[in-house]
Amino acid sequence: MNKIGEILIPFLLVALSSTAFAGRRDQARKLYSSLTGLTATEQEVSIIAGKLTAGQSMEVAEDIIDSRAGLSSMGSFYNITVKNFASPWTNVDYTKMFPLTDLSATVIGYVRDNRPFNEILHNNSVYMAAGIKMSGKVISNSTTNSSQLIYTDSSSRLNTCSGVPECTFCKQIPTGDRNGRFIFVDPLIANGTEKLCTFTTMTRSEFIAGSSNDRYLIPHLDTTLSTNLIKHTNAHYDDIENQGLSLHDSRLLVHKSQEVRLHQDAQAISGLFSTRAWGKANMTAGTNRRNFQSAMKNFFCKDMMDINDTNTPDFRVRRDVDRSPGGDSETFKSLCVGCHAVMDSHAGAFAYYDFPDGAIVYNQGVVVPKMNHNSIFPEGFITQDDGWMNNSLEGQNASFEWGSLPGGQGITSLASMYSETKEFHRCMAKQVFKTVCYKEATSEIELDLVGKLSTYYQNDNFNMKNLFMKTSLACMGQ
Ligand code: HEC
Repeated sequence: MNKIGEILIPFLLVALSSTAFAGRRDQARKLYSSLTGLTATEQEVSIIAGKLTAGQSMEVAEDIIDSRAGLSSMGSFYNITVKNFASPWTNVDYTKMFPLTDLSATVIGYVRDNRPFNEILHNNSVYMAAGIKMSGKVISNSTTNSSQLIYTDSSSRLNTCSGVPECTFCKQIPTGDRNGRFIFVDPLIANGTEKLCTFTTMTRSEFIAGSSNDRYLIPHLDTTLSTNLIKHTNAHYDDIENQGLSLHDSRLLVHKSQEVRLHQDAQAISGLFSTRAWGKANMTAGTNRRNFQSAMKNFFCKDMMDINDTNTPDFRVRRDVDRSPGGDSETFKSLCVGCHAVMDSHAGAFAYYDFPDGAIVYNQGVVVPKMNHNSIFPEGFITQDDGWMNNSLEGQNASFEWGSLPGGQGITSLASMYSETKEFHRCMAKQVFKTVCYKEATSEIELDLVGKLSTYYQNDNFNMKNLFMKTSLACMGQ
C-alpha cells in the first residue's frame, strides 16, 4: 500500500458500510467540485460514485481532470483550480483574483505535464501558447508550396495531406467557394509518416491584418492571440484567458525555455523568480527585498513576523536600515534586525534585477542602485555583487530544514537551496489543501493530514497533480 493509502483508510472503511450510498453521491459531488470548481451533473455524480465504490478513487479523480470516461470538466482543473492555487504568487496583493500570467501558466504546465514541482523555482521554463508568428510572413499569389493539398470542404476540417513536405505553411486557395482565402496547415502528428493536418482559412485582409499587428496564429483552434512577445506585456496570457482557451490542451500550452523570450542572459533565468509577473510584483521600485518577502509568503507560507528572529547575526543588514530608529537602538535590536538580518542576507541574490519599465532588466555584474541607496548607517552592509547567504541555519528558522547550500551567487543557486528546503514542500501541501478543501488546515487532524500529504508528495517525485488528487479525495468527506 502506498503512503496515501493510509490516509484513505478511514474513507475506505466507510465504503464498506452499507449506509454509504447517499454519502457516496455527496462525496462524488465534492470531489468533482473541489477539483474543477464546477458542479457535476447527476449523471456524472453516478459515474464518480460508482468508481469510488469500486475503489478506483485515483482513476476517477484523473478522469475528472482529463474529461474522460463520461466526465466533462473542460479543462477547469487547470483553468480554475490550479490557476487559483498559483495566482496569489503573481501579484503584490497575494490575491487569487488575478489574470493569467506567465507565472501562473508555468505552474499550470508543470502540474499538467507531471514535471517535478521542486524544480519550478530554478528551472529554465516558461509555458506559453504554441502557434505561428504571423508578422514578417511574406505572401505572394503564387503558392508558397507547390504540393497538392487534399482539401475537401469546410465541414471536414481534418484531412490527410500526405505528400506535403512541410506541414505548417500557408497557401492561397485558387478555386471554389474559398477562393482567395489562405490555408494554414497544422500537423496533428508532427513528423509522422501519415500527416494529419487541420486547416484554418482566412481572407487576405484577415491575414494582412494579422501580419501587421503581430498576431499569433493558433491553427488547431482557428484563432489568433495578440502577440507571442511575453517579455514586455501580459497580452499573450490575457488573450488566452479572455478567449477561454483550455490550458488542458497540450497543443496550446507548451513548455519553452525562458531564453530570448524573457531574458537575453541565461544567468538571469531562475524558474518562477524570473517570470515577468514575478518581476512586476517584486522587482518594481523598492529595494528588491519584496522578492524575499514574497518567497516567504508564497513558497514557505510564512509572514515576515513569523520569521522575525532577533538572534540572527546582523552583519548583512544593509545601510538603509536605521540602527536607532526614533533615536532608540533598542528598537533595532528588538524588532528591525529580526527581519532584516534574515531577509537582507537572502535578498542579495536579486542584486542585478530591476523592473523599471514593463519588463525585467538584468545586468550581470551590475548592482542596481536601489540595493545600496539611503545610506543611513554607513557601516551597514554594502551590496557589491549578487552573493547571498543563509543566516538562518541555526535558531528558530532552522525549523525550515533548509537545503544544503549555505550561500552562493544569484537567484538560481538561492532557488536551488529553496527547492531542497522541507518547508517549501510542506507549504505546497498546505496550499493545495487550502485550494481544494476551501479552508486552511488548522485542526490537529487536518494538520496531520497535510503533513502526510506533504511526505507523500516528496516521495512521489514532487508530482503536484497527484497531490491535488489525493488531497481532494481526502477532503471529500465520509
Ligand atoms: C516584519 C519584518 C520587518 C521588520 C520587523 C522590519 N522590516 Fe524593514 N522591511 C521589511 C520588508 C519586507 C521590506 C521590503 C518591503 C517592500 O519593499 O515592499 C522592508 C524594507 C525596509 C526598508 C527599505 C524601504 C524602501 O523601500 O526604501 C527600510 C529602510 C527598512 N525596512 C527599515 C526598517 C527599520 C528601521 C525597522 C525597524 C523599525 C524595520 N525595517 C523593521 C521587513 C521588516
